[in-house]
Amino acid sequence: MSFRPPLVAALALLCIGLCIGWTQRQTEPDVLPAPPPAPPSALPFQALQPLPPTPALPPERVALGERLFHEKRLSHDDSLSCASCHDLAHGGADARRVSLGVRGQPGQRNAPTVFNASLNFVQFWDGRAASLREQAAGPVHNPVEMASNWPEVLAKLSADAGYLQAFADVYGGPPTAERIVDALASFEETLLTPDSPLDRHLRGEPDALDARQRAGMQRFIELGCASCHQGVGLGGNMFQRFGVMEAPPPEAARDSGRQAVTGRESDRGVFKVPGLRNVALTAPYFHDASAATLDEAVRTMARVQLGHDLTAQDVELIVAFLQSLTGRWRGQALQ
Ligand code: HEC
Ligand code: HEC
Repeated sequence: MSFRPPLVAALALLCIGLCIGWTQRQTEPDVLPAPPPAPPSALPFQALQPLPPTPALPPERVALGERLFHEKRLSHDDSLSCASCHDLAHGGADARRVSLGVRGQPGQRNAPTVFNASLNFVQFWDGRAASLREQAAGPVHNPVEMASNWPEVLAKLSADAGYLQAFADVYGGPPTAERIVDALASFEETLLTPDSPLDRHLRGEPDALDARQRAGMQRFIELGCASCHQGVGLGGNMFQRFGVMEAPPPEAARDSGRQAVTGRESDRGVFKVPGLRNVALTAPYFHDASAATLDEAVRTMARVQLGHDLTAQDVELIVAFLQSLTGRWRGQALQ
């Protein structure tokens, strides 16, 4: 009989343990936040950062770059400027699925925005240009974009007294390829869009985001969106596969992405994670424009990148959050 008290005590403890475990399970929320999939460098709560200040560059150089950005003589038949495909009055992107080059030739990919592009770690969807200066030569020479070349462009600009004067004032000499791309890149470096509601929130104004946007930001972080779309640009700082958990839309699978740059089979279907600033203004979405609306892009991302079928409410909250990423340029709200 002497063994009974320990046995009773043990049974009692076991019962208490089970009961506590049971009640704990009952009081935990039904939906636990899903762990992010192999986060590349997850720092969830510092993952989103405000924009740095716009650099104070020499105004004459920026003005020359702005003029060149709108200069149709950079194209072979004087029909297209950079702004033809990157409309600064419409989010700095192209509302068409693919841009049309000289003689109306369709390109291969949707044009991303030039706003905040200076924050990208590399340029283009496949990262084939290391910098804005390297990037700017691309469209001038691309046969389905501006279809020109430097000798042709330099001959045209050098015949213009206004440009000769402007280049002399800024660079102390006539137009050259290096000076043109430097001026263009300088202008692009001023295309930061500060003071979005998210930036104001991150800088300590909690009410800059409304309750839905705050809830959307929480879901964006909990679901794992911020493991790829992070930092000052909410993207633009890493490459990732489009199709981590599921195959991407069939149109997307036709583009080999980063593989065309590196030649590595493992880079097939890998793209630069695009920045999401001003994303509400830059429809259609994805490199192939396969998502017409932000709702659709968010649903596809959750399914294809994270293996989640989002509820209608989650989609609505995340889209509300993404709308808080629209900033201002030269004091005006972007549209
Ligand atoms: C015919 C349309 C067209 C013209 C003209 C054009 N672009 Fe683009 N731009 C695009 C497309 C399409 C892409 C994406 C191409 C890709 O990633 O393969 C792009 C990409 C870019 C990017 C990279 C952005 C990012 O997030 O990776 C920058 C910067 C850019 N263009 C600046 C310019 C400048 C500067 C000019 C003028 C010299 C210019 N573009 C002229 C269509 C155009
Ligand atoms: C594993 C990395 C990864 C995760 C996680 C991820 N994304 Fe993306 N996102 C990408 C890549 C890569 C692209 C570019 C796809 C393409 O067009 O090829 C992209 C594109 C987008 C675009 C389109 C942007 C444009 O300009 O076309 C939106 C919007 C977007 N993501 C939102 C989200 C949201 C919301 C989540 C969470 C539900 C999310 N993403 C999760 C990597 C990721």
